[in-house]
Amino acid sequence: MLRSIVLGIGSYLPERVVTNDDMARMVDTSDEWIRERTGITRRHFAAEGEATSDLAVAASLRAIEAAGIDRNSIDLVLVATSTPDNTFPATATAVQRKLGLPVGIAFDLQAVCAGFAYAISVADALLVTGRARRALVIGAETFSRILDFEDRGTCVLFGDGAGAVVLAAAEQPGHVGDRGVLATALGADGRQYDHLYVDGGVSSTQTTGVLRMNGREVFRHAVQRLSEAAIEVVAKAGLRLADIDYLVPHQANRRIIEAVGKRLDIAPDQVIVTVDRHANTSAASIPLALDVAVKDGRIGEGDLLVLNAMGGGFTWGAALLRW
Ligand code: UT7
Repeated sequence: MLRSIVLGIGSYLPERVVTNDDMARMVDTSDEWIRERTGITRRHFAAEGEATSDLAVAASLRAIEAAGIDRNSIDLVLVATSTPDNTFPATATAVQRKLGLPVGIAFDLQAVCAGFAYAISVADALLVTGRARRALVIGAETFSRILDFEDRGTCVLFGDGAGAVVLAAAEQPGHVGDRGVLATALGADGRQYDHLYVDGGVSSTQTTGVLRMNGREVFRHAVQRLSEAAIEVVAKAGLRLADIDYLVPHQANRRIIEAVGKRLDIAPDQVIVTVDRHANTSAASIPLALDVAVKDGRIGEGDLLVLNAMGGGFTWGAALLRW
């Protein structure tokens, strides 16, 4: 049967590093508070004029190189983002143009911090049904552009970045030992719309708006939904949580990640944590974390991974993937 297997991964963080001390010069906060409550030590902010598509292109070039493929074989570009270059066209078409990719399918997907989990699931559906052969699946964000730098409760939590994978349809034997995406699980609950949102938009205010969040409610739901999504996706494949080699969760807050690891009874050294070095980069956080663990040799071929995320909406999702 056809499975979507990862041929290569790459990521990119903008050059400008903003430390917690830098944030403390903007708002009434401290390095100590940010570290203790979130585990974050620094974030990267895009340069003036550096757009989400630029971050996406930089990550994609690395993913394409790692995959060792001819970029002309890419027939699907999917960008998970809540911070597109423009209202339209899709940032995916900007990526397509900047990379000189051939005519194919290209669109953006908006599921906020759950965007990459959603994008893997959608790309997988297109690949295993033969609608596309090779996909560039990207999470890319410039959240620094939608932060209220007078709100200490939110502006210290987010950063900019991008991560990308080349996902390709490949024949596999058709059992749980296969490489590739083995299962995905997605969900959303619009009743929670008001807990995490941007207070502007095209059809509401005709402004870009800034991020607003009820941190405590988001925290509570995040632990629950991230855990449930992981349990659901493993069960869908007929496997057990004990079979997982690594959990690669959305990187929002170290305390959320640790609570999820505990709830799922996954040992801390099997949980990938990179939030300290880039803060919450929304849809980019999972591929950023994944890339670090692949490059440092923790994740290797044959490893069974659960990627799980939760974001505004609320939206959540998970993918079970054999590397
Ligand atoms: O992808 C999902 C995106 N969002 C998230 O993952 C965020 C989820 N939520 C969280 O991570 C946590 O709720 C926060 C990190 C946002 C906050 O942590 P908390 O332990 O829930 O703190 P809190 O909101 O209960 O605030 C505790 C105190 C408050 O002061 P008082 O009212 O107790 O005097 C806040 O005003 O900390 C204060 N505070 C800060 N102090 C210093 C809030 N932000 C800051 C700050 N620096 N940056």
